[in-house]
Amino acid sequence: MNKKGFDRWSDDYDKDVISSNNLKSYPFDGYFNVITTVNKLIKPSGADILDIGIGSGKLSTILYKKGAKICGVDFSRAMIKKAKRTIPYGEFYLFDFKDGLPPELKERKFNYIISTYAIHHLNDTNKIKLIKKLFNHLKPYGMIIIADIAFETEAKMLRCKKKAGDIWDDDEIYITKETFLKLLNLKGITAKYTQISSCAAVITISQKSLK
Ligand SMILES: C[S@@+](CC[C@H](N)C(=O)[O-])C[C@H]1O[C@@H](n2cnc3c(N)ncnc32)[C@H](O)[C@@H]1O
Repeated sequence: MNKKGFDRWSDDYDKDVISSNNLKSYPFDGYFNVITTVNKLIKPSGADILDIGIGSGKLSTILYKKGAKICGVDFSRAMIKKAKRTIPYGEFYLFDFKDGLPPELKERKFNYIISTYAIHHLNDTNKIKLIKKLFNHLKPYGMIIIADIAFETEAKMLRCKKKAGDIWDDDEIYITKETFLKLLNLKGITAKYTQISSCAAVITISQKSLK
């Protein structure tokens, strides 16, 4: 989906997430467990947090209310507009993360860099290129947390695809643990993968894991 598609989806996005989460169906089965899991990994008070593909800001709003300073990147103007309603003092950049991070953030470092349900718009090679760039933007002891549609194995992904039928999005490139962790390892990055639901996982990468 391109940025115009996300602009159009912005009004219904939160509603669609709730409905898919409640039906325990692809694409958002486990969405709120993902949000809770990511929340538990973060000490929000006073933390500098970068949210890549912030969308309507569901996760970052919770962290913001607990005292975090939120910086959000998204290429959809309408999604950013929604996020600004609940994160009024946030910092937002309209930017396509396939080009990395906005130039304004060149010198910036964060305690946490999070991205939920967004980087499946990049292929695995470009996901890893982005992750490598993010290491330059972490403060000491910082952490990258990626949560997305993801499967332990290719076989599990194919089962989900079969069940999802017409709603499966062939344009999106989902993580499989078996392939993605191997690719990260080849680049000297170790990560922890936790499956949260039939189609979602949380992946944590801490600074010391880059060799
Ligand atoms: C499915 S939504 C997820 C939003 C939010 N992170 C959440 O968990 O609810 C994906 C978001 O990523 C943004 N996005 C997708 N591809 C992008 C890109 N290449 N550059 C910047 N933002 C992108 C979309 O505009 C959208 O807001």
